[in-house]
Amino acid sequence: MRLESKTILVTGAGGGIGGAIARVAAAQGAAAVVADLRLDAAERTVAAIEEAGGQAMAIQIDVADEPSWQRAVEATLAWRGRIDGLVNNAAVVNRSGFLTTAPGDFDRLMSVNLRGPYLGIRTVAPHLHDAGGGAIVNIGSHSGFTAHYDFAYTTSKWGLRGMTRAAAMEFADWNIRVNSVCPGVTPTPINAGAPHIQPLIRRTPLGRGARPEEVANVVVFLLSAEASFVTGEDIVVDGGFVAGAAYRDAALESGMTFPLGGAGEAD
Ligand SMILES: NC(=O)c1ccc[n+]([C@@H]2O[C@H](COP(=O)([O-])OP(=O)(O)OC[C@H]3O[C@@H](n4cnc5c(N)ncnc54)[C@H](O)[C@@H]3O)[C@@H](O)[C@H]2O)c1
Repeated sequence: MRLESKTILVTGAGGGIGGAIARVAAAQGAAAVVADLRLDAAERTVAAIEEAGGQAMAIQIDVADEPSWQRAVEATLAWRGRIDGLVNNAAVVNRSGFLTTAPGDFDRLMSVNLRGPYLGIRTVAPHLHDAGGGAIVNIGSHSGFTAHYDFAYTTSKWGLRGMTRAAAMEFADWNIRVNSVCPGVTPTPINAGAPHIQPLIRRTPLGRGARPEEVANVVVFLLSAEASFVTGEDIVVDGGFVAGAAYRDAALESGMTFPLGGAGEAD
């Protein structure tokens, strides 16, 4: 039980990856605060956790809205009396270019993907301090290492890596660790039907998309005492995509096979 007696607040936990984070955290002993814009989706995650014997509470939150954060934290403290961890997971996509994205759409994406984590850290960090320290995990993306055609999303995910490091420096004296987990393609509602998903999966060295639980396991590791000396770090969970998929794909396209030389022919 890596998170025994810990209270962990997860945003966007009515969704694919956030739901898995809440479920895996609860399976590891945490009381999960399942926060989402869509209360019905949060309640479904809570039902799944309770069915598995875990503890969870659903909360409606708009991460872009400061009073919404205050209410979420008050409800968490009323339920558990403490907060030990925060996962800033909620995000939205835009899927449009520079010429086709209206300024209001750009602002809306940034208000969820960057203002959301900023408000979360600002609201929750003092309570992690009260609990004697804690952990924050920001959910980035492998788009925070390379350029996605969704430029606003890409920009927000690069920005989140900067926020992660800055927060890690600022809150180290409060014994709060801050890290990010950057998934690759993970089939969930956020990318359902997006045309680039299957070609991306084909180019992923491990040959498939991630299962939400594979992302959640890394998040839970970072929340746990097993990661007690890890802060300011990004962990990419993308089946090897940003490690070198473009070169690997070019090599395959030119007729090379891996491992080079074929099985049994290596020295
Ligand atoms: N699925 C992928 O392929 C992938 C890849 C890289 C990174 N990510 C990141 O993983 C995280 C989770 O994505 P997902 O795939 O589970 O998507 P998802 O759409 O299944 O879940 C996102 C959740 O966030 C909620 N949400 C949206 N706006 C909100 C707001 N203002 N306040 C509160 N909640 C809000 C939605 O209701 C939804 O339940 C995101 O940060 C996303 O950028 C996903």
